[in-house]
Amino acid sequence: MEKITDAVQYIGVDDKTIDLFESQYVVPNGVSYNSYLITDDKIAVMDTVDRRATEEWFVNLEKALAGRLPDYLVVSHLEPDHAGNIASFAEKYPAAQIVLTAKAQSMLPQFFDTDLQERCIAVKEGDELSLGVHTLTFVMAPMVHWPEVMVVYEKTEKILFSADGFGKFGALDTEEDWACEARRYYFNIVGKYGMQVQALLKKAAALDIRMICPLHGPILKENLGYYIDKYQTWSSYTPEDAGILIAYASIHGNTRAAAEKLAEMLRELGAPKVVVSDLAREDMAEVIEDAFRYDRMVLAAATYDAGVFPCMESFLAHLKSKNYQKRTVGIVENGSWAPMAGKIMRETLEGMKELTVLEPVVTIKSTLNVESEAQLRKLAEALIK
Ligand code: FEO
Repeated sequence: MEKITDAVQYIGVDDKTIDLFESQYVVPNGVSYNSYLITDDKIAVMDTVDRRATEEWFVNLEKALAGRLPDYLVVSHLEPDHAGNIASFAEKYPAAQIVLTAKAQSMLPQFFDTDLQERCIAVKEGDELSLGVHTLTFVMAPMVHWPEVMVVYEKTEKILFSADGFGKFGALDTEEDWACEARRYYFNIVGKYGMQVQALLKKAAALDIRMICPLHGPILKENLGYYIDKYQTWSSYTPEDAGILIAYASIHGNTRAAAEKLAEMLRELGAPKVVVSDLAREDMAEVIEDAFRYDRMVLAAATYDAGVFPCMESFLAHLKSKNYQKRTVGIVENGSWAPMAGKIMRETLEGMKELTVLEPVVTIKSTLNVESEAQLRKLAEALIK
């Protein structure tokens, strides 16, 4: 528990035992489910936490309430990592009302058996709720990254309660760079919805924000321009750094050898940054993060069952669903008797926006030879032009 300001307390919980966040993301340093309490004439609880953390959250809440009762539970997002305790909260505090969007109200029965409709206050864009000195203003943020999402601005203290926006993997006591895990979180969880994030950033630009309180990761109190700039870059799909990701899918190591050879050539040619990633073994979410971070990428994959090796197929499906765009891509295929990977990778890239696909596809027959190495060198030169 942490006092954020005289009236606002942190009552969220760190989860360091979860194996996979959302059943797909490794979180070596855990994750935090953030929740806040605003104490004024009226008391508002800002979101609950995952059911994995119910007990600890109620302990934090009770302590922060210091004998008083909450008047409102503000629900910015219904995803269970935040909304998991709405029904248990409602049961424990029968006089409290639930403040949420109309969409969230309509979705509520999908998650809880208890009928909570009579206790709901549906709010829309610009509505205000006075707690006394503090006033909450509701700002709709549909599809960031669910349809019922809103963020909340408290104008006295100039705090933006930003829902999943500006969130980050990692428990709050983790000492680590913000951007690395915030970027992995952003592109994998929110990445598809860049347009909607841009719309929210436009609205946020009209607010005087002194502090951002997200639903995951640290509370941002200083240098807010840095974080907002990152979100502008990420949500507009603008490459953040000059560099080349080589993502490879190798069965017996020969495609890997080609990927490493290409990296060596690129470094010799003075490429600003080269990252080589093994799609079969590395965290796919991390590789997706790098694909969006850098302005260039090379896909290198073996042919398999007349298709492309499965981890590359999966990587491409992820990139497509996250709206990968505005980058330059080179292709390297391997095939011992009927190379098909290049054709499939190129066709998949054709379904993405504003990509420059470098031609020709480099074809390796089993292992690099003089001819394919020369093709690889041409690709390296095209990549650093
Ligand atoms: Fe952190 Fe979309 O839930």
